[in-house]
Amino acid sequence: TKKAILGPLVGAVDQGTSSTRFLVFNSKTAELLSHHQVEIKQEFPKEGWVEQDPKEILQSVYECIEKTCEKLGQLNIDISNIKAIGVSNQRETTVVWDKLTGEPLYNAVAAPVSPGPSVPVAVVRSGSSVPAAGTSSVWLDLRTQSTVENLSKRIPGNNNFVKSKTGLPLSTYFSAVKLRWLLDNVRKVQKAVEENRALFGTIDSWLIWSLTGGVNGGVHCTDVTNASRTMLFNIHSLEWDKELCEFFEIPMEILPNVRSSSEIYGLMKISHSLKAGALEGVPISGCLGDQSAALVGQMCFQDGQAKNTYGTGCFLLCNTGHKCVFSEHGLLTTVAYKLGRDKPVYYALEGSVAIAGAVIRWLRDNLGIIKSSEEIEKLAKEVGTSYGCYFVPAFSGLYAPYWEPSARGIICGLTQFTNKCHIAFAALEAVCFQTREILDAMNRDCGIPLSHLQVDGGMTSNKILMQLQADILYIPVVKPSMPETTALGAAMAAGAAEGVGVWSLEPEDLSAVTMERFEPQINAEESEIRYSTWKKAVMKSMGWVT
Ligand code: G3P
Repeated sequence: TKKAILGPLVGAVDQGTSSTRFLVFNSKTAELLSHHQVEIKQEFPKEGWVEQDPKEILQSVYECIEKTCEKLGQLNIDISNIKAIGVSNQRETTVVWDKLTGEPLYNAVAAPVSPGPSVPVAVVRSGSSVPAAGTSSVWLDLRTQSTVENLSKRIPGNNNFVKSKTGLPLSTYFSAVKLRWLLDNVRKVQKAVEENRALFGTIDSWLIWSLTGGVNGGVHCTDVTNASRTMLFNIHSLEWDKELCEFFEIPMEILPNVRSSSEIYGLMKISHSLKAGALEGVPISGCLGDQSAALVGQMCFQDGQAKNTYGTGCFLLCNTGHKCVFSEHGLLTTVAYKLGRDKPVYYALEGSVAIAGAVIRWLRDNLGIIKSSEEIEKLAKEVGTSYGCYFVPAFSGLYAPYWEPSARGIICGLTQFTNKCHIAFAALEAVCFQTREILDAMNRDCGIPLSHLQVDGGMTSNKILMQLQADILYIPVVKPSMPETTALGAAMAAGAAEGVGVWSLEPEDLSAVTMERFEPQINAEESEIRYSTWKKAVMKSMGWVT
């Protein structure tokens, strides 16, 4: 017998840098009923290069949908109750594919045969001399540094040309320069553009196109939040910007249609890879970059409300309402959300930290000092201090508030007493110090200091990290009982869409989510001393690469 469920269900794909998840929520309570997660490979074929295989990403989405539906079946929950699907995704990561074959067009660049001394431990696809079927250039990738340098020499007018239109500094982080690199360096991409077969998209576009039928009529679209991370999108007019496309020499015909974050984009079409036939015809009606999705999932709908999400990186977003606020302190201005075609747009100030959870993965995969990410908490707990060791994980340079591509990771303050537990503790502290830096910048830009910080993301289940965060920020940290806020936000947007209408976006629809609070437990002076030593360490990490 099927279990009686209060209210319609909504599914969400959460495609992050480290993993993919599919989750199903009850739209009347926000209770998470079932989910499945698959880790995603990251390739580092050269120093500073970070790639992923778009086909593996797509396959992981299919796998997560199938497994979640199976689990729902085991719970006697009828999957025909799923009324809509939302998509949230790692942002900026760039894919170009062939609309006639559905194949991504960029083959992996093989790893250097004999890495020079400056090349760090590289995780390389097994049999790396064989090019992969296709890869996407991930947001952390630094290969476009020289592209950025060349572009910055010919910025028209004043240096504000890109920032005033997009809210973003000219940086390797955003999609336009990754796309420029693909157009300059990959013959297959050039040829497909000449033959009018190429489509560009961030991960949301790639997934929505594929899930709505791919070569058989897939919908090529993105939403305003993802578009706002490409450096090609005018955040005032909410359109692709002709002048920016000319500046970056991007053919506008390969860009997806820009839609709101909550509307029906298309219906799920079963592909041969998806056995979960029951989702055939379910509307895909929510789409948000993962950080915007978390802002929605945390119900930060008021001006001045902020959240910090701990994923591969760490992203603090503060809702600034209908105003585009431009930062004086290294923060980005970005589109927060637009929940419906006729609904107003909201903006956010964002502090982006490149490496947060990724440092734990690095300790696991590159140093091997932990076997699973969860073990970090045990190691850190054993010592309860870094014993003066500071770890600046500037693997991809430093993002906010410094935007310093010349920085590289350092571990300093080592003594003969330092052991792996202290390094583990220092890694967790690094995540907290980086958050403190962006919170300080946010407080300076907004003028009104935040009285507490709402947090979410996988790492927030680490209690040591949460306590450290409260100690280092010296304000309370508040975390929801259900950390999958990113997916929840995408589900809310999908369920609230016109023509779906199963989620009201009122607080009573989140009754299953309770809050846990961490208060600062050290004295303010100690907190300041640790923070100022961290800043000394940051200074040492800069200028490493010339
Ligand atoms: O801007 C990059 C961001 O969207 C990636 O998120 O969850 O992989 O840290 P995450």
